[in-house]
Amino acid sequence: MTSLSTKHLLGIKDLNKQDIELILDTAQSFKEVINRPIKKVPSLRDVTIANLFFENSTRTRISFELAQKRLGADIINFSASTSSVKKGETLIDTANNILAMKVDMIVMRHSSPGACVFLSKKVKAQIINAGDGTHEHPTQALLDAYSIREKLGTLKNVKVVIVGDILHSRVALSNILLLNKMGAKVKVCGPLNLIPKYIHSLGVDVETNLKKALEWCDVANMLRIQLERQDTKYFPSLREYSLLYQLNREVLDEIKKDIIIMHPGPINRGVEVTSDIADSKYSIILEQVENGVAVRMAVMYLLAGKKAE
Ligand code: CP
Repeated sequence: MTSLSTKHLLGIKDLNKQDIELILDTAQSFKEVINRPIKKVPSLRDVTIANLFFENSTRTRISFELAQKRLGADIINFSASTSSVKKGETLIDTANNILAMKVDMIVMRHSSPGACVFLSKKVKAQIINAGDGTHEHPTQALLDAYSIREKLGTLKNVKVVIVGDILHSRVALSNILLLNKMGAKVKVCGPLNLIPKYIHSLGVDVETNLKKALEWCDVANMLRIQLERQDTKYFPSLREYSLLYQLNREVLDEIKKDIIIMHPGPINRGVEVTSDIADSKYSIILEQVENGVAVRMAVMYLLAGKKAE
C-alpha cells in the first residue's frame, strides 16, 4: 500500500492497520533523511501549511514546524494568544481567512474535543489534529508506536501499561486505539477515579497497583496529571498520588526486570516519575521527541500525496 485511506488525520480512530504501517515505514525513511548531513528533501516544496495552536505546546508545535521545514514546505505559525481570536473572531472565520491566502494544510491544536473534525467539515483544507482537548493526539500515538517498534522490533503482543490520568488524556486514548489495532496488549494503571468507566469497551484491562502493572509490562508510558483539565479534586494531593503511582528507583528495583520507560512530555519531575528514572538508560523520552519529527514528516508527506490523487 502506498496511499493512506484518509484525506485528514483527525484521529487514530480513522486509520486502519495498513495506514499505520505505511506511516511508520515512511517515518523510518525520513528518520534516515534527518540524520544525514543535509537533512532536507523538497517533497512539500509547493505545499503551504498553517500551524494553528489555540493551546500551549512545546514539542508538538516545534516538531511539526521542523518537519515542515525538512520537507521544504512554506509555513505560517498562528498562536491564538497573539491573534484576533482575542477580539472575538471565530475558529471558522480564522481558518477561512488563513485559507484565503492559499494554504493547503492546517495543523491544529485546540482545547475542544472534536474541534478538528468540526473544522474538516467546514473548510477546504486537509486537517491534522495536533491534540484536541481530552479527545485524541494521533501524531503522539504514532511517534510512541514508532519508538516502541524501533526498540522492540514489533508492536504485536508487546505489553504496554499507560499510567496516570487516563480520564483526561488524549495521549492515552490515541495510544490505546493504535496499540489495539497493531496487536499490542494494553493495560491502564491509576486511581480508579482517573480511569474512564467505558475503558473496558476499548479492550483494555485496568490495574490499580503500580508494582503489579510494571511486573506485567514491557513498556510503561507515564502520563502527567492534567490539572488544567480537572474541574474537581480527584485525590487529596500530588504527594499522595506520587506515593502510589510514582515511577522511582525503589519501584523499579522491586520489579527486578528491565522495562522501557516512555513519557509524552511535559514531565512533572518528582510527581509521576523521578528525575533519575526519567534520565536513566531505561528511558526513551528524548528518542520519542526525535522520532516525532520523522513521524510528522511521514504524515504530512502521505497526506499531501492524498490531495494530489
Ligand atoms: N507531547 C506533547 O503534546 O507535548 P506538547 O504539549 O509540548 O506539545
